Amino acid sequence: MTTHDISDRPGMSGEAAPWWKTSVVYQVYIRSFADSDGDGVGDINGLRAKLPYLASLGVDALWVNPWYPSPMEDGGYDVADYRGIEPAFGTLADAEELLREAHGLGFKVLLDIVPNHTSAAHPWFQAALRNEPGARERYVFRPGRGENAAEPPNNWQSNFGGPAWTRITEPDGTPGEWYLHLFAPGQPDLEWGNPEVRAEFEDILRFWFDRGVDGFRIDVAHGLSKAAGLPDASPPVPGAHHTTAHPAWDQDEVHEIYRGWRKVADSYDPPRIFVAEAWVANNERLSQYVRSDELHTAFQFDFLRAPWRAAVMHSVIDDAISSARQVNAPSTWVLSNHDVVRHVTRYARTQPDHLVESHGARLRWGEEPADLTLGLKRARAAILLTLALPDVAYLYQGEELGLPEVEDIPGHLRQDPTWRQSGYTDPGRDGCRVPLPWSGQAPPFGFSPDDAHAAPWLPQPTDWASRTVEAQEDDPDSTLSLYRDALRLRRAHLTSTDALEWIDSADGTLAFSRGDLECWVNTSNGAIDLPEGKILAMSTQSPTQQVLPPDTSAWLVRG
Ligand code: GLC
Repeated sequence: MTTHDISDRPGMSGEAAPWWKTSVVYQVYIRSFADSDGDGVGDINGLRAKLPYLASLGVDALWVNPWYPSPMEDGGYDVADYRGIEPAFGTLADAEELLREAHGLGFKVLLDIVPNHTSAAHPWFQAALRNEPGARERYVFRPGRGENAAEPPNNWQSNFGGPAWTRITEPDGTPGEWYLHLFAPGQPDLEWGNPEVRAEFEDILRFWFDRGVDGFRIDVAHGLSKAAGLPDASPPVPGAHHTTAHPAWDQDEVHEIYRGWRKVADSYDPPRIFVAEAWVANNERLSQYVRSDELHTAFQFDFLRAPWRAAVMHSVIDDAISSARQVNAPSTWVLSNHDVVRHVTRYARTQPDHLVESHGARLRWGEEPADLTLGLKRARAAILLTLALPDVAYLYQGEELGLPEVEDIPGHLRQDPTWRQSGYTDPGRDGCRVPLPWSGQAPPFGFSPDDAHAAPWLPQPTDWASRTVEAQEDDPDSTLSLYRDALRLRRAHLTSTDALEWIDSADGTLAFSRGDLECWVNTSNGAIDLPEGKILAMSTQSPTQQVLPPDTSAWLVRG
């Protein structure tokens, strides 16, 4: 088994870049990664057993999606106890063992913190329902509008569909106040103007940092502070979900919260780190989250939202790098995660000529059949592009196997609240959360042990035998091998000080150098000639020397 120390990898001039500025982080959606006890749900001991696989893949760090006790109304993003472990996932002792073993293999481990809302099952919200003194001040409770206060306090919509407010029944049985939930009704928003909320979350950070956790991904980092007075939102602009100003999102007050979190992280040795999930209007707004006294990194979602078109990707990359550099922060590239259509499938349909809505991919492209051979070809090319870019990259479990979105999950088996809350018009995010195929010829494809007593919590396609880890492991042309090779080459050839320099190339193509490595990407319909040089990697399964076919990328070193 390979292990590697990523603590501080030297740059070209010998200085050390901190690990969080150069890492490749692997996202573990724990419910769907590996099931050790046969209940059809992935768990911590399943993840522990697969750590050697992740070491051989060659990633530097893991981000584990929420593993806390939860009613699972939103896949664990409804947290009932921030200092515990969901029994279906294991115990605190299992979590501590995982941390020990992962660190032993050289991995950093990031957890997911959910500060915008708790679960409705959280003791705080239960106390608020009982109207205990001070309890409602921790959440956003308001009287309703109109006759009998029967209308919600404002016009905000839940991210999953329907109103963002639910009316409670008071302890005496009368219709009562309304509470805000930007997501499911089972996810009441916290009131971050309340110092008690702030103190509680800083304490939760310390709880996990004290156990050796290296950092946190911050869920909905742009949502915690709401505009004073909770004014009505302007009508949504079609197709501009992420970019329209809205009183619930990206308010300036949120930054003060993160300055406090940074102090907590910096009080540890080594300092702990953060990565923000912040869907904001533009990179100028995003860069504010990664100022030197705030968070360390923030996902670059424009890259994820870019179609497979060289011109769009070129401008997204330029804009991202220059805005991050203005605040001396690294860029954080990501192609897929547990909330978006897997990129094999995004790239398998007609590409728009502009950035797409992350969830719009599900709605707009539903009618056009997916050409998954084409999608996989482009996805393989996209990973060579991603891993050649400067700074940090996140991989989402299963992308190294070339998994597509599972689009035909029967409605009655769908779990994502989006499906119900949208009135069954938006299929939701289950299609990218299907349990991983590890081995064998039929479901559960090694996800659960042979004597499992339950089927995987979402059904796996029966034709995934060729996509398992086992099937790809020893095949040099497999997507798994491409990822392993690219991660090894990235480590060998790229250092943190290698700046990106564009190379002139034909329309529909991209080319840039970093140090001695050149990355060439062809999104056009015709082949192009590559310069003389040694080809280190090519995304196509049948490479021809010095020619880059359509939908292909290559790494080369000029000879
Ligand atoms: C984030 C998570 C998503 C979750 C939502 C509410 O966007 O990534 O999965 O549904 O927050 O917590």
